Amino acid sequence: MKHERKRVLVTGGAGFLGSHLCERLVGAGCDVLCVDNFYTGTKDNIAHLFGHPHFEVLRHDVTFPLFVEVDEIYNLACPASPVHYQFDPVQTTKTSVHGAINMLGLAKRVKAKILQASTSEVYGDPAVHPQVESYWGNVNPIGIRSCYDEGKRCAETLFFDYWRQHRLRIKVVRIFNTYGPRMLPNDGRVVSSFIVQALRGEDITLFGDGAQTRSFCYVDDLVDGLIRAMDTPDEFTGPVNLGNPGEFSMIELAEKIVALTASRSRMVFKPLPADDPRQRKPDIALAASALGWRPTVSLEQGLGRTIAYFRGKVAPAVQSPSLQPRQAA
Ligand SMILES: NC(=O)c1ccc[n+]([C@@H]2O[C@H](COP(=O)([O-])OP(=O)(O)OC[C@H]3O[C@@H](n4cnc5c(N)ncnc54)[C@H](O)[C@@H]3O)[C@@H](O)[C@H]2O)c1
Repeated sequence: MKHERKRVLVTGGAGFLGSHLCERLVGAGCDVLCVDNFYTGTKDNIAHLFGHPHFEVLRHDVTFPLFVEVDEIYNLACPASPVHYQFDPVQTTKTSVHGAINMLGLAKRVKAKILQASTSEVYGDPAVHPQVESYWGNVNPIGIRSCYDEGKRCAETLFFDYWRQHRLRIKVVRIFNTYGPRMLPNDGRVVSSFIVQALRGEDITLFGDGAQTRSFCYVDDLVDGLIRAMDTPDEFTGPVNLGNPGEFSMIELAEKIVALTASRSRMVFKPLPADDPRQRKPDIALAASALGWRPTVSLEQGLGRTIAYFRGKVAPAVQSPSLQPRQAA
């Protein structure tokens, strides 16, 4: 039976990116099924969609098979911040690898089109700058970030094998650092961490000398890119980079956030964690030509919207009585 509305499954739909994607797809008239185990996602992120006639939520772990009827699958389920993906690294690899196998199996059964949320981490500590999709990367297979990086690399392999072997319609998207409202305040990602520290007037923690660079894409731009990638003709598989090529050092980012929050926070420097890449910047020529996509939100605009969100979430630090040094009895 032909369905009036496109039925779209979003795994990881209660997370940061997933919740924005669900919102956009519901707004575009799709029937959206959000699947999440709420490991890092929250019901709050999607609460505004509850009760919408074309939105459903299913608590489910993608490391187990799923049987549903859908036309398209966006596979986003996977913790994305080092704090969360390193907490249970074996589960992180399972989520990427078993999750990909289960979702690809589902796509094969119901003949759905499937998009994989891959990552710039597949490039590791890159020897090529900016990173182009043809670059194979420089990844440590046995380090503390490997559960995430290699899990995502293996998921890409599975996508391309299902495409070669079973002619599945696949789209692999390599997402670079993305930020915006609904990031978790405590997940150690640089934008949210700096904003929370600035709003609380705490020291802003930079790792290494703070000269390492990243590019920052605002969530609305990224979601637009995901939908455009899904809508490409069947011959287009990717991988395609999505990110904002504007490059900023950690010090520059901290300075912008301090200025935009009018904070009195100072910068402090700590040792660089293992395998932290020196620089990251996407080459987005392919996204521009194949998807007609380029980011439109400037770092200042995006930070402004993100800071407004965190202001409502984060109270200035006050020393809690339980944390005061104990008086001698
Ligand atoms: N935000 C970024 O900068 C970025 C960059 C590169 C790639 N990505 C990728 O995009 C996707 C979404 O990232 P995000 O930033 O929204 O992170 P997030 O942690 O906010 O979202 C991930 C979601 O997946 C869910 N999840 C985790 N394990 C699951 C499992 N086994 N079964 C079902 N649900 C599970 C979590 O509960 C959460 O809702 C991830 O796959 C991530 O690797 C994000």
